[in-house]
Parts: sequence; C-alpha cells; structure tokens
Amino acid sequence: MSESICYLNGNYLPLDEACVPVLDRGFIFGDGVYEVIPVYAGKPFRLDHHLQRLNDSLNGVYLSNPLSNEDWTQILQQIIEHNGGGDQSLYLQVTRGVAKRDHGFPATAQPTVFVMSNPFKPVDAELLEEGVAAITLDDIRWQYCHIKSIALLPNILLRQQALDADAAEAILLKDDKVTEGAASNVFIVLDGVLLTPPKGECLLPGITRDLVVELADKHGVPCEQRDISREELSRAGELWITSSTREILPVTRLDGHPVGDGRPGSLWQKMYAIYQDYKDELRQAT
Ligand code: PDD
Repeated sequence: MSESICYLNGNYLPLDEACVPVLDRGFIFGDGVYEVIPVYAGKPFRLDHHLQRLNDSLNGVYLSNPLSNEDWTQILQQIIEHNGGGDQSLYLQVTRGVAKRDHGFPATAQPTVFVMSNPFKPVDAELLEEGVAAITLDDIRWQYCHIKSIALLPNILLRQQALDADAAEAILLKDDKVTEGAASNVFIVLDGVLLTPPKGECLLPGITRDLVVELADKHGVPCEQRDISREELSRAGELWITSSTREILPVTRLDGHPVGDGRPGSLWQKMYAIYQDYKDELRQAT
C-alpha cells in the first residue's frame, strides 16, 4: 500500500485509489505527454522551463493546455506538501481523455490530468565514483523526439537492451550521429571541448542538458552544440548522460571499452560540483 497522494482531474487522493477509465486515450493509444520535475527542499527545480516544455509538447500533439501555469504551480505545490516536502520527483501527465476508440481526435473529450510524486532517489555514490556502462544502439524512434510523449515503447525496448547487456543506458545514433540516450541527453568531451548534439526533432530538449550548457557558459567551460559523429564518440575523453533523475552521470565504459582512462573525468568532476552548488543555492533561497 502506498501512502503517496496524487492529483487526478481536480481531486487529491491516495495513489492506490486513483483510476482512469480503460477508454482513456493514454491507455488505448499512448496519446498524451508528460514531464518529470525534480523537487529539492520542497521547491520544484526549473519549473518554468518544465512548464514551457509541457506547453511545447502539448502544442506538438494539438492538445491545448488544460491548466494555466498558475494552476499547474499550485497543484504541484500541493502534491509536494501532501507528500512531505523535501526532495521528490514529480511526474505529470496529460492525455487526450476518454473517448470511444477511434484514431481521429474526439470532438468533446476532456483531457485527463494526472500528477504523482516519488521520493527523489539520489544516484548511488558508487556510480558517481566509478561511472556507469553504456552501449550504442541504432535510434529506432520516430521523427518527433522533441515531444515528451508518453508513448515510450521504443525507448523502453532500447533501455531494456542496455540493461540486458549490463549497461545503464543506450546511447542512440541516427545516420552515424549521436542523438541522445534512451532516457537522457548526451555530452562528450573531445580535445578539451564539451560537445552536445544540437536541439531539433531528433532529441528531447532536456532541462538538465540546457542547464549544463548554461552553467558551462557561465563558468568558462568551452561548450559547443553540434553534431557528434560515431567516430568522435569513440574518441571521446569523457562521456556523460544527463537527466532530471540522474543529473550528470559519467559513462566510463562504452560497448565494453573504457571511455578515456576509464574513470570519471576531470571536466565531469568540475561540472558536477558546479551543478550541485547551483542546486544548493536554490535550496537556500527563500
Ligand atoms: N526522461 N531524453 C529523453 C528521451 C528522456 O526521456 C529524458 C528524461 C531526457 C532528459 O531530459 P530532462 O533533463 O529534462 O530530464 C532526454 C525522464 C527523466 C523520464 O522519462 O523519466
């Protein structure tokens, strides 16, 4: 039994009691979008960025936002408080609602709005110490990867393939260029320069990715947003994955070979410390 309190279509209730009708288009078609928002010291992290990306995703699937940013902020704050404040990971989802199964958009359905919270699980110290393994896989996904769609079957299959190979993530390549991870963005360090693929329809515009680019600029770390070839990936001195749940995680083995010297690199150590300082400043801000 979970004590966790969630929000569903206007009501706050225990997660175990929350139900949606089987004809919800999220269940039938995966017809919806979502966000994952970290919460530190009871405060949602980079909330305006997440709400902007939610809006972009909704626009991308021709759904109008059912709530104003003020309403979203209030609901999220309620969920944070109901679940004890502190560090959490918020999950929100909007689907096209309940309607008779038909591929075309329903004329009158109300979007389903769902928010839940999980405890924020920090990355194990050992993984930060040693780094993780990853494998490269072909990016088999669709052409709207900038939309944070709940239809994640390709991502799930790719991540599971990585897990089955004792790796923590799949690094995806399309036309011999790195796109992103199955559930993360990708950075490499090549000849002392931090590189990450440019935003576009091939990858999700990660909030963590954008913050890393912003912090690199602010702290004088040379950083370029440009294509990364398979060959450059194989020569990278450092490889990182970023996401709201894993923050900045060093990858030290790729396809069974060490990345650089096989240890988390010095630039990762620097960026990780900068990122933690940035979080601490927000924790302390009133
Ligand atoms: N996923 N790319 C993909 C495909 C992702 O699923 C994610 C995050 C990211 C990183 O985005 P952000 O920095 O905004 O978390 C990139 C979340 C955490 C998830 O699906 O659980």
